[in-house]
Amino acid sequence: MNDKHTVADLALFGGPALFDRPRPIGQLAKPDTEHFFELMRGAFEGRRLSNNGPLVQQLEARLADFHAVRHCIAYANAGLALIALMESVAGGRKGSVVIPTFTYTGLPHIVRWAGSEPIFCDVDKDTHTLTAASVANALRDDTLMLLGVHQANSPCPIDELEALGKQHGIPVLYDAVHGLGATYRGKPIGGFGIAEVFSLHATKLLNGFEGGYVTTDNDELAALLRRKRNFGYSGECSIDTLGMNAKLNEIHAASALAALDGLPAIIARNRARLRAYEEAFRDIPGLSWIPYPQEEATNAEFPLLRLSHDWPLSRDTLVALLRAEGALARPYYAPALHLQDNPHHAPLPVAETLSTCIIQMPTGESVSVEDIEHIAALVRFIVLNAPAVRAALAAIEEAK
Ligand SMILES: Cc1ncc(COP(=O)(O)O)c(C=O)c1O
Repeated sequence: MNDKHTVADLALFGGPALFDRPRPIGQLAKPDTEHFFELMRGAFEGRRLSNNGPLVQQLEARLADFHAVRHCIAYANAGLALIALMESVAGGRKGSVVIPTFTYTGLPHIVRWAGSEPIFCDVDKDTHTLTAASVANALRDDTLMLLGVHQANSPCPIDELEALGKQHGIPVLYDAVHGLGATYRGKPIGGFGIAEVFSLHATKLLNGFEGGYVTTDNDELAALLRRKRNFGYSGECSIDTLGMNAKLNEIHAASALAALDGLPAIIARNRARLRAYEEAFRDIPGLSWIPYPQEEATNAEFPLLRLSHDWPLSRDTLVALLRAEGALARPYYAPALHLQDNPHHAPLPVAETLSTCIIQMPTGESVSVEDIEHIAALVRFIVLNAPAVRAALAAIEEAK
């Protein structure tokens, strides 16, 4: 820790950075490299590098088992898996898809690539997910499906959403990218709705470098999704559905397979980091941590720091100060998606408030408990010197 004695020592104002290498927010878990190279040696020897090779098939079987579902269909990434899934469920119909407005920025684009229009919907203040009441307001005559997004801190209220879907005859699907390893009513996320989608991106819990997959119990949908990822081929040279090249290759499958056994340990280390943050920040006023449910399995993926409305500095100022020090914190899901899409969108007040006050703090395999203690000491210094920080920021603005 390089000590900060005056605000001039803060990296944002020209002082030396706290960390000599960045502390990111992504998981960046290292697969078992011995296992990875052994799998890849086999792939090279067998001359199978892509096109539904044995490693992809092995990964799919292990993930279907993990999620307790009949089918896992691997894709090149979660985005393409979501596009293929939504396009399949739409089945050629044009219309809209209800999505939460408080989630990953790419989601509305994914809906549009799938040929539908996103309808942004407000979220619950505690779970940060869709609720039946918020969705009921967003339904339209042309609504084709609901796309719930599980959050790291909470799955969607699945029973409620599915009852609503049933009542209106609208299928429910889940973006489960942040639900890996979590349960709902004791059952693994992955087995709910028509289908669920996960990511194998390096920043996610299970590291395939890139990759994604769909889980489903629907045999027909699974078969269709297998054809769609492979140009739509139904036989040697016949195509019977709109397809693309969205195959997962053997390198990515090998990485995910070599990481899979380590998943419980990754989640345990995430939980230790969450506990370390709670402990280290305990005496800093005006800050709290978004809680994870105690009664279900969770993946502890994100430490989410919430600032009270009267905190002495803005959320974005604190993020800028942390980032300058090499602690790559990020405003959590800000701005809300409906405002990114259309600044004149009708208000969705819960998400708009949430998007102003939460910070996604550094975590993952590159962040140690000691790093967290240094970050807490830094934030303690910042809050004690808030008036001087504000003055230094004002001086920079004035000099512009
Ligand atoms: C909620 C959510 N959905 C989908 C994706 C897309 O995943 P991928 O990078 O595998 O396409 C992400 C990526 O961050 C995400 O956070």
